[in-house]
Amino acid sequence: MKGKVALVTGAAKGIGAGAAKELASRGTKVYITDILDEQGAQIVAEINATGGSAEYLHLDVSDKSAIEQTVSAIVKQEGKLDYAINNAGIGGKLSPLHDITTANWNRMMDVNLSGVFYCMQSEIKTMLTTGGGSIVNVSSLAGLNGVAYGASYSAAKHGVIGLTKSAAFEYGKLNIRINSMCPGFIETDIIKDIPEHVLEMNSKLRVPLKRIGQVSEIAKSIAFLLSDDASYITGMNMNVDGGFQAG
Ligand code: NAI
Repeated sequence: MKGKVALVTGAAKGIGAGAAKELASRGTKVYITDILDEQGAQIVAEINATGGSAEYLHLDVSDKSAIEQTVSAIVKQEGKLDYAINNAGIGGKLSPLHDITTANWNRMMDVNLSGVFYCMQSEIKTMLTTGGGSIVNVSSLAGLNGVAYGASYSAAKHGVIGLTKSAAFEYGKLNIRINSMCPGFIETDIIKDIPEHVLEMNSKLRVPLKRIGQVSEIAKSIAFLLSDDASYITGMNMNVDGGFQAG
């Protein structure tokens, strides 16, 4: 993965930051993007201090024109974009479906679904001009299952898998592989809003490996999907969930 160029959204912390560090450790130049500028700059500093190469760009994925400008800026500087990880996401407010406000619904769709869609559009347009690339979209187990009181999150994450599979059909012949990833419960800030007893029940009873997952475990799987080791894999959704989805 040496000499490649990657864009990672929502990379100031959590899974995005972990994936960016994993790619950088494999020799990829990483563009860390997020709305948390200080934390993003911190991740860049950590990567550059440990022999990697990274830059930070402010990017709110709910802003279509900002996405286009960011991808253009990367291509202007690097001449290409080999990899993209469309990871930025919000958990949203837990609420019964009939109480979801239009504002909350729209925000969820803007960030978790349209954000991925517009990123894919810009990334693919660029990859088409440079002979190919590889994209991983971060969905969720909520993209495979219903989630009580999380209907908008679940709907958006189901949408991410639909976008991924459809795009894989369209762009496979053009040398662009597109896969999605469903993390299980992973130790990041986003799960802080999940009640302790729900996490406990899931990690101790429902998950065969009997624990919450770590960011590095997701990061390595994303890196695998992006890499040539996954050269015959496209349109796939990979569950990295300690076995949750097995039964
Ligand atoms: P996190 O909260 O640590 O990181 C999310 C990142 O996305 C943050 O850096 C945040 O600033 C950024 N972000 C939020 N809104 C944004 C916007 N409009 N534009 C750009 N960046 C924005 O959470 P985590 O866990 O690292 O989440 C990453 C992805 O993984 C999300 O898409 C999430 O839905 C997904 N996921 C996480 C799971 C978990 O258990 N941690 C489980 C399943 C899916």
